[in-house]
Amino acid sequence: MIQYQNLLEDIRADQLEGFFVGWPNPPTPATHLEILNRAAHVVLALDGSSVVGFVTAISDGILCAYIPLLEVLPSHQHQGIGSELMRRMLERLHEMYMIDLLCDPELQAFYSRVGMEESTGMLVRNFARQSGS
Ligand SMILES: CC(C)(COP(=O)(O)OP(=O)(O)OC[C@H]1O[C@@H](n2cnc3c(N)ncnc32)[C@H](O)[C@@H]1OP(=O)(O)O)[C@@H](O)C(=O)NCCC(=O)NCCS
Repeated sequence: MIQYQNLLEDIRADQLEGFFVGWPNPPTPATHLEILNRAAHVVLALDGSSVVGFVTAISDGILCAYIPLLEVLPSHQHQGIGSELMRRMLERLHEMYMIDLLCDPELQAFYSRVGMEESTGMLVRNFARQSGS
């Protein structure tokens, strides 16, 4: 049974193992917890005491929000958890004027199914700063 929560008070770094799959320089669980704490909004999916999925948003709290990170552990993918995390985050942000994220083209259908629209954009990626630790 997957439980969803927005609060971080009871979350420890050792509950955050296994994320950032494929990153050459992934954040440690301790840095991951710091990222969650500094985000404006977080939704977590827990299987027992283990965090198995998360989504973050950063925001000015008035007009704009950006969703930088969504991930579900490989062991728990394809069960609807990523979609549920996005639905819950979009509900939390529903009063914002703009809610943006970037993704690869193959994931656009996934985000369309939770109510997002395709767009275009620009970016900078500073890979030397990919992880905070
Ligand atoms: C994207 C992600 C969060 C989806 O989580 P999930 O819990 O498996 O999502 P759901 O079960 O709600 O939906 C799964 C559907 O999303 C789509 N999908 C997921 N990953 C996909 C990918 N890499 N390419 C294309 N479609 C994908 C498929 O339609 C999939 O359907 P299926 O289960 O029938 O194969 C998860 O695959 C993940 O963590 N990926 C690695 C990190 C990542 O890419 N994050 C998004 C950054 S923009």
